[in-house]
Amino acid sequence: MSKQILILPGDGIGPEIMTEAVKVLELANDKFALDFELSFDVIGGAAIDKHGVPLADETLARARAADAVLLGAVGGPKWDTIERDIRPERGLLKIRAQLGLFGNLRPAILYPQLAEASSLKAEIVAGLDILIVRELTGGIYFGAPRGVRELENGERQAYDTLPYSESEIRRIARVGFDMARVRGKKLCSVDKANVLASSQLWREIVEQVAKDYPDVELSHMYVDNAAMQLVRAPKQFDVIVTDNLFGDILSDEASMLTGSIGMLPSASLDANNKGMYEPCHGSAPDIAGKGIANPLATILSVSMMLRYSFNQLVAADAIEKAVSLVLDQGLRTGDIWSSGCAKVGTQEMGDAVVAALRNL
Ligand code: IPM
Ligand code: MG
Repeated sequence: MSKQILILPGDGIGPEIMTEAVKVLELANDKFALDFELSFDVIGGAAIDKHGVPLADETLARARAADAVLLGAVGGPKWDTIERDIRPERGLLKIRAQLGLFGNLRPAILYPQLAEASSLKAEIVAGLDILIVRELTGGIYFGAPRGVRELENGERQAYDTLPYSESEIRRIARVGFDMARVRGKKLCSVDKANVLASSQLWREIVEQVAKDYPDVELSHMYVDNAAMQLVRAPKQFDVIVTDNLFGDILSDEASMLTGSIGMLPSASLDANNKGMYEPCHGSAPDIAGKGIANPLATILSVSMMLRYSFNQLVAADAIEKAVSLVLDQGLRTGDIWSSGCAKVGTQEMGDAVVAALRNL
């Protein structure tokens, strides 16, 4: 039976980058006889415009029924002023939570061709290969209570809650250890245990889980130090496991080591490796519609989908190889451009990857 893939382009640059990723996916589908069936739906601002909510029930049902979901990006100034509970981002958080996608894998790999595009010195980032494992369905993103209340003096006070249960910590810690085991066997758990109660429990549970992984070297680091170490000596890290908010922040930081956030794919997996795949970057409204966005993070997300959801390792490797060949050719979108390279737009970049993949 064919495998169903639901495509949710979203807002801003989402549709542009998704067009290119879908071209690559369709070619891979033919070339490797993958038997994928693609369908499309809306999320985020596009869903607000169509249904009045950022994730319609029927879209969620289709996502549940699909074998994998490929998502572009959500949000934009058009919807910035609407009520907090139905903002575009809520649609993204809802689909992550409802599908139980607690394990978010964000690899930060430096393509050697892009060493010049990194904001750090080439020798500090050469050969960089870090995996950030971010907890994606808990913590302060979802904690209750949250809101705005009025204090006795009439002043408003806003508040959020950062809860983590033992089982939530245990399952994400396992993802971290499992990933470290098949990579460099080093796991760094990042928390703020010197201040936060949730981080103290986090550290305790990670220590417990470590007993099942004697072959993995575990270290702990406070998040402020981790932010510093990532730019000081990023190659000390192999796998980082951390909570939802810290993972959001550190993955943006790590992306710049690789040249651009436009290069970073991600996989969000449930307990059975069903997944949603999306670039780590946002909808970039400032460049939307200009045809200059980098489609490579989304194309590389297709590769992660083939790898993690469908175990199609040959096809996944081929897409990564095609991206690398295009970088060898000196083609660069604006975000990864450096002098001596050819500046190309979104579509040209997508076409180049398609051509390279076809010729492999
Ligand atoms: C990300 C994004 C999202 C997040 C936003 C758009 C809600 O920044 O995927 O990193 O904070 O998780
Ligand atoms: Mg983010």
